[in-house]
Amino acid sequence: MSAPKLKRREFVQYLGASAVIAAGHRLVPNWMITRASTPLSTATPLLDNLDFTPAAISNSGDLTLSEGFEYDVLLKRGDVLNPEGETYGDHNDYLAIVQRDDTTGWLWSNHENATMRFLLPGEKDDTMEYIVTRLTNMGGSVIRIEKQPGGSWRPVLPHSENFRVDGLNSRLKFTGPAAGTDRVFGESEAIGSLGNCGGGITPWGTFCTAEENYKETWGDPEMNDKPPKSAKHIQRPSEHYGYICEIDPDTRELFKHTSLGRMAHENVAFNLTRDGRLVAYTADDRVEQCLYKFISRDKYDHSAGKANRRLLDHGTLYVANTEKGRWIALDPVTNRKLRDHEFDAARVCVNTRTAAKIVGGTPLARPEDVEVHPVTGELYVALTSWEAAGIDKTKEDYFPDIAGALGRLREKDDDAASLEFEFGILVPGSKETGLSWPDNIAFTEDNHLMVATDYAINHKIKENSSQEQLGNNFLVVIPTSGPRENEVIRFAVTPRGAEFCSPTLSLDRQELWLNIQHPGDDSPNLKELSTHFPEGGDAIPKSAMVAIRRKQA
Ligand code: FEO
Ligand code: CA
Ligand code: CA
Ligand code: CA
Repeated sequence: MSAPKLKRREFVQYLGASAVIAAGHRLVPNWMITRASTPLSTATPLLDNLDFTPAAISNSGDLTLSEGFEYDVLLKRGDVLNPEGETYGDHNDYLAIVQRDDTTGWLWSNHENATMRFLLPGEKDDTMEYIVTRLTNMGGSVIRIEKQPGGSWRPVLPHSENFRVDGLNSRLKFTGPAAGTDRVFGESEAIGSLGNCGGGITPWGTFCTAEENYKETWGDPEMNDKPPKSAKHIQRPSEHYGYICEIDPDTRELFKHTSLGRMAHENVAFNLTRDGRLVAYTADDRVEQCLYKFISRDKYDHSAGKANRRLLDHGTLYVANTEKGRWIALDPVTNRKLRDHEFDAARVCVNTRTAAKIVGGTPLARPEDVEVHPVTGELYVALTSWEAAGIDKTKEDYFPDIAGALGRLREKDDDAASLEFEFGILVPGSKETGLSWPDNIAFTEDNHLMVATDYAINHKIKENSSQEQLGNNFLVVIPTSGPRENEVIRFAVTPRGAEFCSPTLSLDRQELWLNIQHPGDDSPNLKELSTHFPEGGDAIPKSAMVAIRRKQA
């Protein structure tokens, strides 16, 4: 299937956020925005007034921030989390914070993958130790955070309530149409969660984690992906992976929600329809895969708290046709083509990609993070790259400059229940815009968009690559309204070899918590490390979480 043409004239054909805000609409309920309930200090939330000098392009091994900012390392791979000796895993990706009371909260951090040559130098890639180490370094960490006397929040390590979810041992209960069916081999639960990329926070205050590249561990018969050699030691069905999972930090219950489909899930973003049903947007980060939304059958009841989880059991999954601006239901009851291909509700949840292509879902340029604008309800979509899709970038209809784009979807009548929408490109990736391969996106308190890039960093810099043009991966702020709307402003640059993940404002809004994933990935060998972040000296680099704040006067 060929990739769709996204033409330059499709850029932003509709009303911008400024106009929506000026008209006084607020299209997302306040409580959907899972932000702190503690009173704000009088200080302006970090990044909101945009009064920082853009960070310069860098190829260095250091974490580079805009002038006047500094950072603390909060967590790093291998830190001991609890008295049982469980440790913080590798490749921290998504992070999320939920407040419990005035002085305590929960921090969640995904562990997407593992750099095996740093964890087990010299180990062959087909041994039991290799796969066990890899699986235990993936999953996620649940960590207690506490408010400090000065007002900032910090993780508490070790703490008896901290715990790990991992790819080897954790048991996650299936929910939704595929649970217990033949499509998951009759099982009511799966063992392990892995490839944990992006995530989300449910409206009832629990964490979601997205299982993305499960194929690298278990293969995938649906896509003809073969499992790696190490999989011979531990046999697990691919069909048990590739879901949006939920972690309840209070009860330690773990779920895999099959109703949201099975794919290389990037993350999940929630909203409500105007009549009160729950909506979950997700994207499939694989070349020429699609964008989805789930609408629950029943209505959300804010007073019911975690009982709202049942909304994820019954509803309809839709795939986007961005050329026609339509959501198409993946519903075998109403769609004859799906029935003709022997799809029932359970199979839609497990072979979602096949169902999406049968009904006409539009293949996109690796859709990654999706986030709902807290005021306008518009869906911002990171389209990481057309490059791998084999597109002839010399054709003028495509973005020839570098790669990727930031897109935006507006539902018809601004109602998340709509089956029609407008979709356009907001900021294309190019040397001129200063954006390339957008991956993680999130909003500041004032609804500026933060965007982290994720392109390949090599030991020898390739000609005409993003690395040559823009240096190490970086984080930008893009205002969604006001005089600087759509301007790309560089704030920070990763240590060499790394990408930034999941920019998140702290509970006091005075710090930006940021995961730094796979620093030193471009090192040719262990004797020539491109960075020693975060420990310095001769240390092997480690994925780590940092807190960035203004330098204290
Ligand atoms: Fe794990 Fe799509 O980035
Ligand atoms: Ca993300
Ligand atoms: Ca990502
Ligand atoms: Ca990434």
